[in-house]
Amino acid sequence: MSLEIRQLTIKDVPGAWEVLKDGSNSNIGASFRLILTRQSTWIFAFTTLYMAYVYTGSVEVTVWTFISYFAAIYIFVICGSLYYIYGPPLADMRKPKETYMVQDNTSFLVAEMNRKIVGTIAIVPKPQTSTNTSKDNGHEIAWLRRMAVLRKYRGRGIAKKLLRAAILFSRKAKYKQIDLITTDVHFAARNLYTKMGFECISYKPIRRLIIFVWTYEFTLQL
Ligand SMILES: CC(C)(COP(=O)(O)OP(=O)(O)OC[C@H]1O[C@@H](n2cnc3c(N)ncnc32)[C@H](O)[C@@H]1OP(=O)(O)O)[C@@H](O)C(=O)NCCC(=O)NCCS
Repeated sequence: MSLEIRQLTIKDVPGAWEVLKDGSNSNIGASFRLILTRQSTWIFAFTTLYMAYVYTGSVEVTVWTFISYFAAIYIFVICGSLYYIYGPPLADMRKPKETYMVQDNTSFLVAEMNRKIVGTIAIVPKPQTSTNTSKDNGHEIAWLRRMAVLRKYRGRGIAKKLLRAAILFSRKAKYKQIDLITTDVHFAARNLYTKMGFECISYKPIRRLIIFVWTYEFTLQL
């Protein structure tokens, strides 16, 4: 099976969406499991359980409260994934031409196998936000995003190839550094970035809507 890494064209956009949706959906289970490892989740669960029992005196209601609590967390995680796919975070995918096909210093790469889009990665100039640790004053820092590979095609080195192509593009576009952020949930991605020479420069909580997400910031000098 031949793999081609190339620039996104307009006809690839639905396929790229599928990859990003699959990437987000594949993290639902991992996010839920991660929440279950947090001490605060269990403190809140047992407080709720205790209050349900004290106020109702019913074991049945208490058990259902407990089940509902974890069901609500799972639904919350699914809503987070839907928000990522259909909300502002993927706004760039609704105007791919303006975001990735006009300027020389932006790129959206796709991995194509047997005419199917199986992986994505993108490079844009680093946006200046309050959460950035390293500030870019002269558009010399690239921002890496949209890294994903379809579940069925993982473990075959496709992400590594996409990342190498994105690094090559960034060098040609005269960037001096590539930055990115990832989270506790993205274990495979963190391994990948470390393996490819990225260095973790910060690990801190960033507020996303009503929750704090522990976020890793990685950087690679070019
Ligand atoms: C992260 C992701 C892109 C990796 O794609 P992939 O094509 O399977 O990765 P590769 O086969 O190229 O593997 C590259 C390296 O990643 C790491 N890696 C990949 N899968 C891994 C896993 N399941 N567990 C731990 N490390 C893993 C390894 O270091 C691997 O190198 P190795 O094979 O030499 O050990 C893929 O898992 C994915 O799409 N995840 C969901 C979306 C996501 O989390 N995106 C990142 C957002 S920051």
